[in-house]
Amino acid sequence: MTTAFRGTLLYFTDDPLSSGKSAEGGDAVHHIQDGLLLVGEGGFIERVGEYSELIGELPFGVEVVDHSGKILMPGFVDCHIHYPQTEMIAAYGTQLLDWLETHTFPVESKFKDYDYGVKIAERFCTELLRNGTTTALVFGSVHPESVDAFFTVAQQRKLRMIAGKVMMDRHAPDTVLDTAETSYTESKALIEKWHGKDRLDYAVTPRFAPTSTPEQLQLAGRLLEEFPGVYLHTHLSENKDEIAWVKQLFPDSEHYLDVYDQAGLLGKRSVFAHGIHLCDDECQRMADSDSVVAHCPSSNLFLGSGLFDLQKMDDYGIRVGIGSDVGGGSSFSAFDSLADAYKIQQLRDVNLDPFRALYLATLGGAKALSLDDRIGSFKPGMEADFIVLDPKATDFLAFRTQHCKSLKELLFVLNTLGDDRVVNATYILGELAHTTDMIVDAEQASEGAY
Ligand code: GUN
Ligand code: ZN
Repeated sequence: MTTAFRGTLLYFTDDPLSSGKSAEGGDAVHHIQDGLLLVGEGGFIERVGEYSELIGELPFGVEVVDHSGKILMPGFVDCHIHYPQTEMIAAYGTQLLDWLETHTFPVESKFKDYDYGVKIAERFCTELLRNGTTTALVFGSVHPESVDAFFTVAQQRKLRMIAGKVMMDRHAPDTVLDTAETSYTESKALIEKWHGKDRLDYAVTPRFAPTSTPEQLQLAGRLLEEFPGVYLHTHLSENKDEIAWVKQLFPDSEHYLDVYDQAGLLGKRSVFAHGIHLCDDECQRMADSDSVVAHCPSSNLFLGSGLFDLQKMDDYGIRVGIGSDVGGGSSFSAFDSLADAYKIQQLRDVNLDPFRALYLATLGGAKALSLDDRIGSFKPGMEADFIVLDPKATDFLAFRTQHCKSLKELLFVLNTLGDDRVVNATYILGELAHTTDMIVDAEQASEGAY
């Protein structure tokens, strides 16, 4: 059964950076003021176009869901996030290495308990959807139970998600350690169980070089060889003390990325979070191997890690996606990440164009995860994971946006001031998965639930 969604359509078919700059973002930007998005059987997009052209051609009985005055966009793609850290977001006082020891490892130790994992995964997925994020590349904890829990919840909600069990066999408390051997066998079992099942994919997930022995990294590389479709997900060059530690732990490596390269971890499906302090050779190897950087602006500011050089990534032609890095990042909202990304580039004397920013959070993220044939844009055949944005979501936003004179200005204001309140609805495969429209039932109202 087809459903038609009416509203302002906004989506990208390419990187605005490479498609010619203009006030309206060039050919890459598609903006239909009064459009119609047709979603058919199985939640795939059937047609996209002007409301006035398509409305007369709809088969009899097609329901039209009216989101006029709001913006329909592909859902956000979060290229780096930790679901076990949901409960410790906004932890005070420290930078990366101390933050891991003080806040992160104790919380992650709870995820040996499958039921606990399910509970937090439910909360996590709800929070993603409330913020308009429909796909994410997700760290579990070291415990395979954490990944079983996450995938079970994501599968029930029909979400397109990529996740993996952390591999870490040193420099952490016993409660969050595996061994090289168990990390290999447990990851392998999880791949066999989950990879490619429904909308789920697996990412081999060594935490970062300091918490893996060279043997464990080699075994991560072996998994990539044995299962060619799986992803590699880790951290890279985030914090100066971390980089110094890697140098000390791996004296025979040329630089941080070389540690991963020697283990065979680079490639098209390899996503490295942060990459703030990369040298030229690291960038060259990232580009040559078509590896990806997940830029995590909120986290980089919150943990005081540094100012990401987006221009350098563009110069080398490295694919970049945006990650919230919750709980190092202090928000689930892609808008908060984009606002922080803009400010980071300001401190580097670079302007992050609002079209480019939204591209990075949607199709750019899908490309970073090699999923751009399925999600990230509105084209017939793609999966209908989309969001409905309300530029008048709050009284103040209505006041501010009424003064916008162009689409670019409106989008910049939304990128900068937007948050979960702007996400009026989130659809997964064409079905409503979240809405801010309150359906107050009399009983709840009388109990004072609202
Ligand atoms: N490096 C190693 N582990 C982590 C983590 O959990 N968060 C962040 N931001 N960086 C890391
Ligand atoms: Zn992280």
